[in-house]
Amino acid sequence: MMLGEDTEPAAVWKAVGDEALRRGIRSIVMMGAHWETLGNRIEVAMNPNPGKNPVAYVAPEKYENFKLTADLPMGTRVIGMLREAGLDAHANATFDFIHDTYLVLIRMFPEQKTNIPVVIISANARMDPHLHARIGTTVRPLRYEDVLVVGSGGAVHNLYRNNWMQMVLWRDNLAMPFPPQDCMLAFRQAVHDAFTMNTGPGVRRAVTRLMKHPLFREAHGTDEHFIPACFVAGAAGDKEDEGEPNTFLAECWELVNMANSQFQLGSWE
Ligand SMILES: [Fe+2]
Repeated sequence: MMLGEDTEPAAVWKAVGDEALRRGIRSIVMMGAHWETLGNRIEVAMNPNPGKNPVAYVAPEKYENFKLTADLPMGTRVIGMLREAGLDAHANATFDFIHDTYLVLIRMFPEQKTNIPVVIISANARMDPHLHARIGTTVRPLRYEDVLVVGSGGAVHNLYRNNWMQMVLWRDNLAMPFPPQDCMLAFRQAVHDAFTMNTGPGVRRAVTRLMKHPLFREAHGTDEHFIPACFVAGAAGDKEDEGEPNTFLAECWELVNMANSQFQLGSWE
């Protein structure tokens, strides 16, 4: 897991956490890649004492003592906003956080006690890009209230195409004994361009359209790691966002064929 190691993306998340604290960000609203709900449902994490699901290939001491803080008042508000938008949103009082979100939070707030409270919104298992963009659009107004919106998935993430031998034999997930496949490089570039060469509704259209890209199924064996990108594109893809910079921050390649790219949509101001 790239956030288990000291990588460029890990340093970027630390910087984002520092900036969030400096600016007095009061809540973080996140969608990850590992929580999907069935039917039309969308759920919001409302467990007052969330635990952590274990993560493979990361030493437990790197995460087991980190204290997670759920933002229940903000969660109630998010449920209300989603319902008002016509979405089938419900509280989930027993959800335990998964590594897609808590490893990011640990990198943001390594001191633990400076942890900003968090709301996690589930994805919907139908994996409709436009529905998830709409969820992002629905929570978008919170950005004007010192709330940071985060999507945590992957630009290229196909476990069936990864090179696992280096992990199995040497526990080295970041080794690059040979380059990524051309199709992975091409899709990574398409993601990069969709985010950085569009603004406003253009970024929402470009990012959701990537699920129809001819190389999408090569780059994503399943849909769930791309869905958070649609969520953030919705959150920063309004007419009012037109002209705002969308910036590439960092990336690392993992298991040869998996690209972990970080983007900032909009500016802090
Ligand atoms: Fe994942």
